[in-house]
Amino acid sequence: MSFNLDSIIRENVKGLSPYSSARDEYVSSGSAMVFLDANENPYDNGVNRYPDPQQRKLKAILTMQRNVKSQNILLGNGSDEVLDLIFRAFCEPKIDNIITLPPTYGMYKVLAGINDVENQEVLLTKDFELDIEAILAKINSHTKLIFICSPNNPTGNSFNTKSIETLLNNFNGLVVVDEAYIDFSPKESWIKKLKVYPNLIVTQTLSKAYGMAGIRLGICMASQEIIATLNKIKPPYNVNELTQNQAIKRVSNAQRINSEVSEILNQKNILNKMLPNISFISKVYPSDANFLLVKVDDANKRYTQLIDKGVVVRNRTNQVLCENTLRFTIGSIEESIKLVKALNSIANE
Ligand SMILES: Cc1ncc(COP(=O)(O)O)c(C=O)c1O
Repeated sequence: MSFNLDSIIRENVKGLSPYSSARDEYVSSGSAMVFLDANENPYDNGVNRYPDPQQRKLKAILTMQRNVKSQNILLGNGSDEVLDLIFRAFCEPKIDNIITLPPTYGMYKVLAGINDVENQEVLLTKDFELDIEAILAKINSHTKLIFICSPNNPTGNSFNTKSIETLLNNFNGLVVVDEAYIDFSPKESWIKKLKVYPNLIVTQTLSKAYGMAGIRLGICMASQEIIATLNKIKPPYNVNELTQNQAIKRVSNAQRINSEVSEILNQKNILNKMLPNISFISKVYPSDANFLLVKVDDANKRYTQLIDKGVVVRNRTNQVLCENTLRFTIGSIEESIKLVKALNSIANE
């Protein structure tokens, strides 16, 4: 199947001239210039100037770590902003549709609603795998996006390469692989396949392994043409100065991040062994992420009991295929001990 990006960009976006900001029109070369071009307050307090609209310094570090070029990266105010931009660039409200694969991250459906785009759902199989035939059968001439969350939230598993490749090869729209949890996973990122598949978009975030949920920094990687299209519609200063600075500091410290991730994975291994001993837990699902989905006898009851013991987990019982499940984020050693103590004490009540 031949993919033609131009044919899936919304007409209004194609014809759009993006806002040209002061910081786009004059890029500082580092020499001491007098900046009287952006109606800023001249008195320095660290944030009196507009941030770099293209986040060049941060992208320079990310490009080295991910082995992609800056032209293949767009940064946003969390991956939620990035995902919204993808809708706004490619999906015509009331006409186009997307495919999501529940149980999965809830924002895809919410964003479809906000953008007035039909959300076609194809359930995962009972063992949380992709139902490729059913997905292919749902695609029609107005299907623009398929969202694949891998590792998947809330189930924790990654999807197999062959299945995702089948979709990439047989779909004329864009396949968005959301890798929010990839840094916890032993599986390879899809970034490497960007050169092979012009219809692939990979999203990542600093909110999980990088420990920066508070600064809101999402990463979108795709072909230069897709990124150029998204750049046209992004708000000029969507990633603020404080976020850019904090991200640069943290992302440069790969050693610290790696050691936190290995500690989290260590805790996950320990919990993986301990949780099946709790009498009311009947299953711990395999996870490539920083959380474990567990099946219990009565999720609503156990959720409330855990709250009473001071531990807040996520009750996923109302998600399709997730009846009586709870999702435990892997915390620190102390937090894991509290969780296990609370579970044991509930089991002994
Ligand atoms: C799969 C997935 N994608 C994206 C996000 C949101 O990431 P961000 O904090 O970058 O908006 C989450 C947050 O829970 C998530 O689970």
